[in-house]
Amino acid sequence: MYALLFRLLLRRIPAETAHRLAFVLIRAVGAVPGLARLVRRRFARPDPALRVRVWDLDLPGPLGLAAGFDKDALGPDALTALGFGFVEVGTVTGHPQPGNPRPRLFRLPVDRALVNRLGFNNRGSAAAAARLARRRPGRAVVGVNIGRSRQTSEAKAVDDYVTSAELVAPVAGYVVVNVSSPNTPGLRDMQAVARLRPLLVAVREALDRVSPARRVPLLVKIAPDLADQDVDAVADLAAELGLDGIVATNTTTGRDGLVSARVAVAALGPGGLSGAPLRPRALAVLRRLRARVPDGCVLVAAGGIQSADDAWERIRAGATLVQGYTGFVYGGPGWPRRIHSGLARRVRAAGLASITDAVGRDPTNRPAP
Ligand code: FNR
Repeated sequence: MYALLFRLLLRRIPAETAHRLAFVLIRAVGAVPGLARLVRRRFARPDPALRVRVWDLDLPGPLGLAAGFDKDALGPDALTALGFGFVEVGTVTGHPQPGNPRPRLFRLPVDRALVNRLGFNNRGSAAAAARLARRRPGRAVVGVNIGRSRQTSEAKAVDDYVTSAELVAPVAGYVVVNVSSPNTPGLRDMQAVARLRPLLVAVREALDRVSPARRVPLLVKIAPDLADQDVDAVADLAAELGLDGIVATNTTTGRDGLVSARVAVAALGPGGLSGAPLRPRALAVLRRLRARVPDGCVLVAAGGIQSADDAWERIRAGATLVQGYTGFVYGGPGWPRRIHSGLARRVRAAGLASITDAVGRDPTNRPAP
C-alpha cells in the first residue's frame, strides 16, 4: 500500500514537503491515545530475541531511526510506535537556524537514494532539550546528535558543541558529536584528529559537569569519505579517549554507483548522498573500525541499510546497533517492523538466543591490513 501511495502521491510532491506531511501524519496518529496504542500494537511488536542492552540502556530492538528525520525532537515516541528500537534526534545546533534555501532535498528513486543539502535546519538545542524534558519517563531511548551552527566561526566551534551538550545532557540517552555532515562549510575538517581530540574532550567534560550522576554516553559520527588511514586515526582516538561509540556513517559527497542519469544527478547540485549506493563504503568503514576499536566502543552502523539482510550483515560485521533513514523513506511506515522481524528470523535460523550473540560473528571479519 505504501509503495502505491509513494508512486501515486508522495513522489509527485517535492521531497521536503512529502517528508513534512508524512511526519505530521505520524505525529498526529501518535497524539491520539487510542490510535497510538493501535499503531504500537500493529507495528512495534518487541521480540525478546532482539533486545539489546547497551550503555546501561535497554532497547527493544537494534534498529534506530538515523539523525536528520526528527531534527527538532518533535515526535520520537510516535516514531518508536512504528517499531524503531530508538530514535536519534537532531542534528541540533547551539543557535536556531533556517538551513539552506529550498529546494534542498531530492529523490533518486531508481537508486533508492536521496541527496540533501538541508544545512542543519533546526530550532536550536535549547528548544529540543525543552521538548525532550517534557516526555514522560520510561519512554524509548532518544539519542541527541549535535553539530555546529553556521553563524559560529570554526575557531569557536567547540563552544557551540559544548553549549548544546550542556543543554541536552540531562535528557539524552546518548549524545553524538556530528563532524561529518557535508552541508556546513568546514564541519568535516573537524574529523582530523588534532581538532577532534579537543572537541571530544570538551564535550565529555561538559556532559560530566551537567550530569555527574549518570555518565551520558558520547559517540562521534564520521563520514564515509574519510580515507582509510583517517578512519584508523579516529578509531585510535576513540580508544585513547574511551569513547562510548562511533556512528558510521553519514552521507557521502561522492556520486559513485548510481544508475540515475549523470546529468540529472549533476543538475541537483551539491549535497550528501544517502541510501543504497552508500552500502559498500559504509560497510567497509564499519569493518575497519571493528578491527581496530576496543570491544567497549559500540559501533552504530548507518548508510544504505534497506533490508533485514543489510542490517544482519552490519551486525555480524560488528555493529551493536543499526540505523536507517533513506530505507524508511522508500520503505514506508512498515519498514522498521519488517527489518526487526527479518532480524528475529535470522537470529533463530542461526540457532542463536539473542541478536547480541550475532554481533561481530561474521567469519570473514579480519583485522584491517
Ligand atoms: C541525513 N543525515 C543526517 N545525519 C546527521 O548526523 N545529522 C543530520 O542532521 C542529518 N540530516 C539528514 C537529512 C536527510 C534528508 C538525510 C537523507 C540524511 C544522515 C543520516 O543520519 C544517515 O547517516 C545517512 O543518511 C545514511 O543512512 P541511510 O539514509 O542510507 O539509511
